[in-house]
Amino acid sequence: MTETLTHPTTSLAVGDDVADLLFRAARTTSQWTDAPVSDEQLAAAWDLAKFGPTAMNTLPLRVLVVRSTEAKARLVAHMGDGNKPKVEAAPVSLVLAADPAFHQHLDTLFPAYPGMKDQLEPAADVREQMARNNALIQAGYVIVGLRAAGLAAGPMNGMDFDGVDGEFFASSGWKSFLVINVGHADGEGSPYPRGPRLSFDQVAEVL
Ligand SMILES: Cc1cc2nc3c(=O)[nH]c(=O)nc-3n(C[C@H](O)[C@H](O)[C@H](O)COP(=O)(O)O)c2cc1C
Repeated sequence: MTETLTHPTTSLAVGDDVADLLFRAARTTSQWTDAPVSDEQLAAAWDLAKFGPTAMNTLPLRVLVVRSTEAKARLVAHMGDGNKPKVEAAPVSLVLAADPAFHQHLDTLFPAYPGMKDQLEPAADVREQMARNNALIQAGYVIVGLRAAGLAAGPMNGMDFDGVDGEFFASSGWKSFLVINVGHADGEGSPYPRGPRLSFDQVAEVL
């Protein structure tokens, strides 16, 4: 049991069990049990993560679920050497990507501002930057959503993004930026002890 678990914070709106599940006891996982991960569990995680805010409700994150041995081999070929065995060992790996064509959905997703879709159509550079910024934010929601669905997550970005994009996203134009291995943690799920974190006083300036 870690120090944080024995000294629970009292100023939270959720119970210690939830705080532990989502943050304090959850580790970046690379050691898995044999328990499978269903598409229903992944969908349950998404059904929470999708509510996390994005600019103009753009939701530019796209997810490729890499499950089969054949698909895993295609992904592993583009991972950094240290990450190859981690992808191979995980029950499922998610490739997170940003969709620069996110604006196609804006009439539905952001009806408060009609015309945004047409305004963004010619602005490819703006769309690419917006897609990346907001998809990165969504990646954090996905990690917490996976934990809320009872799953463990192992994010990693040591990979050849152009290689992954050519392998999987040549026709869609999605831009990969992260792989998240997903499964059930074997024990703590990590061979490393939990690293220390910066305190509020170290990261925040209150004016
Ligand atoms: C954006 C991102 C990229 C990462 N890239 C890698 C990676 O390429 N390989 C790896 O083994 N771990 C990678 N990690 C894992 C981090 O080292 C790990 O999340 C961090 O040390 C915290 O570990 P903890 O959650 O167990 O406390 C990455 C994590 C994040 C969020």
